[in-house]
Amino acid sequence: MQVIIDTDPGIDDAIAILYALRHPGIEVLALTTLGGNVGLGVTTRNAGRIVTLAGVPTPVHPGADVPLGREPRSETAIHGNDGLGGVAFPDPTVAPSDEPAVAAMARLLRAAPDKTIDLHCLGPLTNLALLVQDAPDAAARIRRVIAMGGAIDEPGNVGPRAEFNIAHDPDAAARVLAAGLDFTLIPLDATRQFRADAAYLDRLRATGSPAAIASADLIDAYFAQTEHQAKGSESRPLHDPCVPLLALNENLFRIDPRSLGVELDSGALVPGPHAIRVAMGLQADALRSALSEGLAE
Ligand code: RIB
Ligand code: CA
Repeated sequence: MQVIIDTDPGIDDAIAILYALRHPGIEVLALTTLGGNVGLGVTTRNAGRIVTLAGVPTPVHPGADVPLGREPRSETAIHGNDGLGGVAFPDPTVAPSDEPAVAAMARLLRAAPDKTIDLHCLGPLTNLALLVQDAPDAAARIRRVIAMGGAIDEPGNVGPRAEFNIAHDPDAAARVLAAGLDFTLIPLDATRQFRADAAYLDRLRATGSPAAIASADLIDAYFAQTEHQAKGSESRPLHDPCVPLLALNENLFRIDPRSLGVELDSGALVPGPHAIRVAMGLQADALRSALSEGLAE
C-alpha cells in the first residue's frame, strides 16, 4: 500500500515511521511534517534523521508550524528538546524538500490513480485541513485516512477530555471530520492499551536491526511514571505506531462506528454529526510481535 505519513516526530512518531519505512507491505511516498510536539524546524530535521537511519530515501516536505488560528503548545517535556528523547540519530543526509507539505500531498494524489494513496496522521491535523481547504479535489482522491488522536471514554492527556493531536488544532480537526473522508481514528482508548516493558526492549535489541535498536532506545527514553501503571513498569503508550500497525493488521483492533464532532474550546471529541470509524481496543501482545517483526525487516 502507498502511504503519505503526516507527522510531528516525536518519540512515538519515530517508531511508527521506522516501522512503516522498513515494512515491505508499505511504500512511504513522502513524509510531511508539522510543528506539533516540538516545532517545525525540529520535527522536520528529525524526519530527515529517521529516514537516514532507516536507510530508505524518502522526501520530507515541511508543512504547518502552528495551528490554524491559535497559539501552539509544546511537548518537549515528553519528547525532549531534540524531539527524540536524546537518542542518537544520524544527521539527515538529504535536506528537506523545497516543496511544502500540502503542495506535495496534492501533487502525489493527483498523479496517482484515484483512491490508491492512504494518509497516516501522527500529529495534529493542520496539514490535512489545509489540503481539504486548498486542494479539495486532491483530498477527495485519498483512499483512507488513519489518524491517532482524541479520547472517547478515556481521560485526556492535555485536559480532562482533550488529547494532544486534536486539542493542539481543534479547528483543523473539525474541518477534517466535516470533509467526508474515509476516516479511521485511533484514540487514547486504544493506544493506552499498547505499551512496552523492559523485556520487550531486550527483544527488540536482540534482532540486531538498527531500526529495532533505535526504537528500543526511543522507548527507553519514553519510560516514565505512566498515568495508570506502577512506577516505571511499562512505557508511556505507544500511540503513533498504532497507525501503521492498524493499516497492516486491522484484525488486531476492535473498531466501532461513531458519530463525532469537536468541541472547539476544550479540543475534546464529543457526539456529533460526522460518521467515522474508531478503534476502541486492540490485541497488545500480537501487535507487539507485529511491531518487532516489522522493525527487524
Ligand atoms: O497524544 C499523543 C499524540 O501526541 C502522539 O501523536 C504524540 O506523538 C503526540 O504528538
Ligand atoms: Ca505524534
